[in-house]
Amino acid sequence: MSEKGKIGIIGSGLIGQSWAMLFASVRYNVVIYDVDYEQVKNAHNKIKNELEIMEKNGTLRGNIGAEQQIALIKGVSTLEEVLKDAIFVQECIPEVLSLKQELYGLIDKIICPQTIISSSTSTFLPSHLSEKMEHRNQVIVAHPVNPPYFVPLVEIVPSEWTESWIVQKTRSIMEEIKQSPVTLSKEVPGFALNRIQYAILNECWHLVNDGILNVQDVDTVMSEGLGMRYAFLGPLETTHLNAEGFTNYTERYANSMHGVCQHFKAPPKFEGPLVKVIADQLNSKTPLEDLQKRRLWRDQSLTKLSQLKKYNNY
Ligand SMILES: NC(=O)c1ccc[n+]([C@@H]2O[C@H](COP(=O)([O-])OP(=O)(O)OC[C@H]3O[C@@H](n4cnc5c(N)ncnc54)[C@H](O)[C@@H]3O)[C@@H](O)[C@H]2O)c1
Repeated sequence: MSEKGKIGIIGSGLIGQSWAMLFASVRYNVVIYDVDYEQVKNAHNKIKNELEIMEKNGTLRGNIGAEQQIALIKGVSTLEEVLKDAIFVQECIPEVLSLKQELYGLIDKIICPQTIISSSTSTFLPSHLSEKMEHRNQVIVAHPVNPPYFVPLVEIVPSEWTESWIVQKTRSIMEEIKQSPVTLSKEVPGFALNRIQYAILNECWHLVNDGILNVQDVDTVMSEGLGMRYAFLGPLETTHLNAEGFTNYTERYANSMHGVCQHFKAPPKFEGPLVKVIADQLNSKTPLEDLQKRRLWRDQSLTKLSQLKKYNNY
């Protein structure tokens, strides 16, 4: 048992497992609960396996070995046990609003005043999860990016009633586990990551729909162009460096940028025959039966990128 506090994980799927590994890497005692206790046992085996592999290939996080990290992670079979004395509980159950609201109703009856309830939700606003709760001021969203072990961004999203100490403490816990948190000042649909991602997807859809580029070439624009910079700089600092600072960038390019944007189309509904056109082109490169192989390649590439970024800090 480590001297650090207890972290609870609710839901032992892909994201629950990643959070468990991140918390254990900095010596938290991690307790995992799932409605289906078999899933907890499976998750523990998968975590053990992954941590041992990462220790062998030198990508394990933290400064204690895999065996010690595994020993910090325990499974429990009731909601009471996962919540009891926890300083922070990360909810990772499926993205179904009614399911989450039902769980938050049960949590509301047992939760202590010092426990933070944080949701991994990608799409639901924290106010929608917590509005009916007596303890709604203890609920926040900490949205990870898949795979969280290698992609460190976490979006911290409070509702209007989330207490400020909850926001600050959540951020400091995310920093402690060496993720890269950003804190939204208030909840907005899509948070920040998906608002930016959807703006990009809208334009990709239109470029293919208008016959300007095929699917492979649209992806090349990002993976061999913008994405190369964005992995290090982000779009705003990119503009700062592409002129003599951001002010000069706007002086040089504001008119042409605004002019190009006049040609942007309304957001598509992502339906109709183009879905098949795009899917066929993607499938011809990566057939559905090869998705897992490609995901492994993605995770290995992200591991190398995150190592490069660590050593490349300016
Ligand atoms: N998978 C991703 O790429 C990703 C990325 C960021 C955020 N998220 C979010 O993380 C959350 C979890 O996603 P996931 O992919 O790990 O889901 P998953 O379906 O892999 O796992 C969910 C787990 O929750 C368990 N569960 C279901 N109902 C429960 C309940 N009432 N109490 C306790 N356990 C319960 C299930 O048995 C399952 O083991 C979702 O909100 C999702 O939107 C997912």
